[in-house]
Amino acid sequence: MSERIPLAGVIGSPIAHSKSPKLQNYWLSRYGIEGYYIPMDISQSDLAEVLRMLPRQGFVGVNVTIPHKEAALSLADTVTDRAALIGAANTLTFGADGKIIADNTDGYGFLENLRQNGGDWDPSSGPAAVLGAGGASRAVISALLDAGAPEIRLANRTKARAEALRQDFGSRVEVYDWVQTGAMLEGVATLVNTTSLGMTGKAELKISLENLPTSALVNDIVYSPLMTPLLTEAQARGNTVVDGLGMLLYQATPGFERWFGQKPEVDETTRLLVLGE
Ligand code: ATR
Repeated sequence: MSERIPLAGVIGSPIAHSKSPKLQNYWLSRYGIEGYYIPMDISQSDLAEVLRMLPRQGFVGVNVTIPHKEAALSLADTVTDRAALIGAANTLTFGADGKIIADNTDGYGFLENLRQNGGDWDPSSGPAAVLGAGGASRAVISALLDAGAPEIRLANRTKARAEALRQDFGSRVEVYDWVQTGAMLEGVATLVNTTSLGMTGKAELKISLENLPTSALVNDIVYSPLMTPLLTEAQARGNTVVDGLGMLLYQATPGFERWFGQKPEVDETTRLLVLGE
């Protein structure tokens, strides 16, 4: 009996900019695994049918990106707790019966990035300050709470979005005014920017780091540029800083492992691969 070559891919629209095919196909060749990872530009109206069809075509799973992360969750047969809490899926695995298991690995990617690159960072040693209340913020907050952060201090330009997150995540989340950095940064172990401020072409994040302990780890989930103005300023005053590229790389590893049976390594080669054009 001939074994089918396993297929996986990424579904989004547009999809040309996605770094995932480069990364996943690199891992396939590095580990000598026969398989393919394919970018797919799929419209909202075709999503449900495509997800029903793919398992029959030999697909073992797919990543899902903008704008399908929420819809993918509602089309799944099984949803992991963390995906339900975040309200979006980025990694789908197809069972032998074609059933869809939806997961969200963004929080895992965020945490693994800080654990691998953050020196002796201990998320439980103090509160975490989180800027921004979009989808990425939900993943970051749930990961920090899981990792034992005693308190999340959350500030967002649109305060109502931060209040909504507090409703979902509970009393360990405290909402602060945007950006009332004075009280917010005092005594924190971690500062994370989940907004798009600081990204190439966007406005800079205006924040005073005066009250930030120099022992705090500072992370920006933006990775273009790698060293955002926030990270540059934090590093200059002695804070340990971690750029956002690792989150992108580590969020990809659970899918690859599930689909192809090998835990892939994140290293300098994968960083350069994803950064290069
Ligand atoms: P994602 O899912 O990637 O987190 P998002 O849902 O669009 O993306 O969220 C973007 C985040 O960046 C939000 O917290 C947004 O603040 P609002 O909720 O007030 O929109 C924040 N953001 C974007 N541009 C901003 C700006 N110029 N000033 C302050 N915050 C900004």
